[in-house]
Amino acid sequence: MLVLGIESSCDDTAVAIVEDGRRVRSSIVSNQANLHAKYGGIVPEVACRAHYETIVPLIHQALEEAGANLGQIDGIAATNRPGLVGSLYVGLSAAKALAWALKKPLAAVDHIEAHIYANYMVHENIEFPHVSVVVSGGHTDIFMSETPVKHTLITRTLDDAAGECFDKVAALLGIGYPGGPAVQMASLGGNRDAINFPRGDGGPDGTQISFSGLKTAVLNDLKKRGFVVEASRNSGRALRPGTPDPRMFGETRTLNVRLPLSDIAASFQEAACDIIVRATLASTRRARTRGVVLAGGVAANKRLREKMADACDANKKMAFFHPPAELCTDNAVMIAGMGFHLLRLGRADPLTVDVMPNKEERQLKASIGTT
Ligand code: KG4
Ligand code: ZN
Repeated sequence: MLVLGIESSCDDTAVAIVEDGRRVRSSIVSNQANLHAKYGGIVPEVACRAHYETIVPLIHQALEEAGANLGQIDGIAATNRPGLVGSLYVGLSAAKALAWALKKPLAAVDHIEAHIYANYMVHENIEFPHVSVVVSGGHTDIFMSETPVKHTLITRTLDDAAGECFDKVAALLGIGYPGGPAVQMASLGGNRDAINFPRGDGGPDGTQISFSGLKTAVLNDLKKRGFVVEASRNSGRALRPGTPDPRMFGETRTLNVRLPLSDIAASFQEAACDIIVRATLASTRRARTRGVVLAGGVAANKRLREKMADACDANKKMAFFHPPAELCTDNAVMIAGMGFHLLRLGRADPLTVDVMPNKEERQLKASIGTT
């Protein structure tokens, strides 16, 4: 079965063609980072227009690279939740048009569930139930996963998402966006024990997640070392979670050229990873599960993978899985894979299916679990 997947929930337009839920025939990701850079964050209208201009050429390119034509597509999948409303509409509308014209079934996919699903596409030996840790630019959620489509929330961040924290700290350090890869790169050769940044205490059972104390500690440390934080002239613009917010930090510039940037980056990365690993282990205790699945853009972080693997190994050799880096950050392969799974279960959506952009709607869904 050949499924064409479309992802457009934020600032990546992606199209993929996947055979039988596993074999990737083509995968294209078009990133808009350059378009938004001059605004200091994602501008929803700009994102929406860029998706609109890119989506049809990308579909053609994905078909060509897969050596397939539209007549051979058996199903269409697209992200319809959560994300930016206009961006979601572009991808979902393109998917609906294809499904209608080709008379093929449509699956509307949850972006967060799809991040987790990326693991099932590449690992055959994942046992249920397990804990799923989704760490991305917009989310830091830990679920108990009973099936590939049944995830019940255990805990989520009280403030920033993990990727958002990496992005904001990278903005403070002036090392670029997206911040995760920039921090990872800047950490190379740094001393991760140089600064003992706060990790919080994880709350009564260790599942509590918060990154705002860590972010503030980095800011204070930089001030102490001669970084200047000025009031920003940027105001009133809508920014995506996970995007450095100049209204919060102002503009930063380095006054002390001998600042041990790699030490600060490595120490921050170590603390951020410790917060995620602690909440993960506590969640496995609470859910009484013996497996961990890591997903989302921050799952591409090498130090996080290393620390999570060590922690799971030390915990009576608990199983640990993560996707390859290209399936951690936003992509349409995971959407096609999840779509294949839903269509095989007979869970196609009607062409009236709508987008569901909000976190509130997701929270409601999380509290009742998916079926
Ligand atoms: O899953 P994703 O592509 O988009 C969302 O659904 O949000 O995640 C993007 C986030 C960004 O915040 C980015 O900085 C972070 O993932 N990220 C990383 C790494 N690669 C991407 N964070 C830490 N280390 C990385 N290597
Ligand atoms: Zn994502």
